[in-house]
Amino acid sequence: MKKAFVKSYGCQMNAYDAARMADVLGKEGYAATERVEEADVVILNTCHIREKAAEKVYSELGRLRVLKGERQAEGRDTRIVVAGCVAQAEGAEILSRAPAVDVVVGPQSYHRLPDLLARSRETRVVDTDFPADDKFDHLPARRNRGVSAFLTVQEGCDKFCSFCVVPYTRGAEVSRSVPAILTEARALAEGGVRELTLIGQNVNAYHGPAEAGGTASLADLMRAVAAIPGIARIRYTTSHPNDMGEDLIQAHAELPALMPYLHLPVQSGSDRILAAMNRRHTADAYRRLIDRLRGARPDLALSSDFIVGFPGETDADFEGTMRLVAEIGFESAFSFKYSPRPGTPAAEREDAVPEDVKSARLSALQAALDRRRHAYQEEAVGQVTEILVEKAGRHPGQVAGKTPHMLAVQVDAPASTIGGLLPVRIVEAGTNSLFGQTLTSTAAAA
Ligand code: 5AD
Ligand code: SF4
Repeated sequence: MKKAFVKSYGCQMNAYDAARMADVLGKEGYAATERVEEADVVILNTCHIREKAAEKVYSELGRLRVLKGERQAEGRDTRIVVAGCVAQAEGAEILSRAPAVDVVVGPQSYHRLPDLLARSRETRVVDTDFPADDKFDHLPARRNRGVSAFLTVQEGCDKFCSFCVVPYTRGAEVSRSVPAILTEARALAEGGVRELTLIGQNVNAYHGPAEAGGTASLADLMRAVAAIPGIARIRYTTSHPNDMGEDLIQAHAELPALMPYLHLPVQSGSDRILAAMNRRHTADAYRRLIDRLRGARPDLALSSDFIVGFPGETDADFEGTMRLVAEIGFESAFSFKYSPRPGTPAAEREDAVPEDVKSARLSALQAALDRRRHAYQEEAVGQVTEILVEKAGRHPGQVAGKTPHMLAVQVDAPASTIGGLLPVRIVEAGTNSLFGQTLTSTAAAA
């Protein structure tokens, strides 16, 4: 049997695309493998968001060239595919930089992989079109993906933050239709999925054709998804503050399946930098938005993205970010050093922040974010909550799951609990996860 190895970098959108590419190849008779040496097709599903992410691809391609040569010496063919956002951004340039590559395919064209692979036997191929037909209409049915699954509902971004390549690599915002999403969601639920994370580059701008005509908002869509039998939990990511509509805020108060956790990137706490980033909101507007969200859902856990060292960022600007972090108290966060991306307006600026200053700011910010995250984990100890059991735990006899607030918990419980909601008491906080006891065993011990 032919084998395919798919490696994905970057965001959840890419993880979703990687799974769908595996499905496309599965239909062609390829079995998935985790061992690259035995793969007849190797797909790197790449990320272009920061320079480091893009450079990783080229070093991986160097290693793959050697592997391809070794397999060739044994008479075995290896097709190497570069997919994702580096493919979209660099296209044919990849062919000249990486001689081992056979196919370059963008995020909107991977449903054509079988055809592209066949054509690559004659000549190296590049497909980075934004085709008029919808790739989702051409993808095979999804195979079972466990208890918690991603579902792409929206792609692309119209925001044009001045540092970001996404509007160029993923194109303009497009929302899938409600019926198409519900069909996919129902199939996932029937396959055992209990938690759906609706994903999109700017998911809260979702406005897709509704079942009964007209346009559905993300809140409308989530209400329809929540009505599907078997779906116990809904999440969504990632969002822009300016698209947090009133109905979406209200959904956090009214929709029990919508989990109390929100990833809402702010990037900076300085109005000057926010303006230069073209974020189109101030730090205070973000604070007020968080107040409204917490008004709707007081226990809402917040997560965010931050960039330090954007061109022209002064110590005072950075202090603004630190102040915002201290005031809001993010339970989780991702923070990055600014990385100039070719083709974006910010990359043209000549007032770059020195690398050592960026590093110092990143360490200070991450230390503050880590402190809050640890404190949040400690606060959870003693609390009674419910986890969705997703998989076997780290040790025999344990299972692992997540709380509504996205905290990872390990519990002594049989594997038969996987896929179920399990009431637990958190008893201990480790470095990366919490330990819980099932409530029945807590009662037995007492
Ligand atoms: N440099 C650093 N971080 C970036 N991000 C996006 N573009 C850049 C860049 N050029 C970060 C933002 C975004 C997250 C997905 O990646 O914080 O929210
Ligand atoms: Fe990039 Fe800004 Fe769009 Fe997010 S909102 S994908 S940071 S342009």
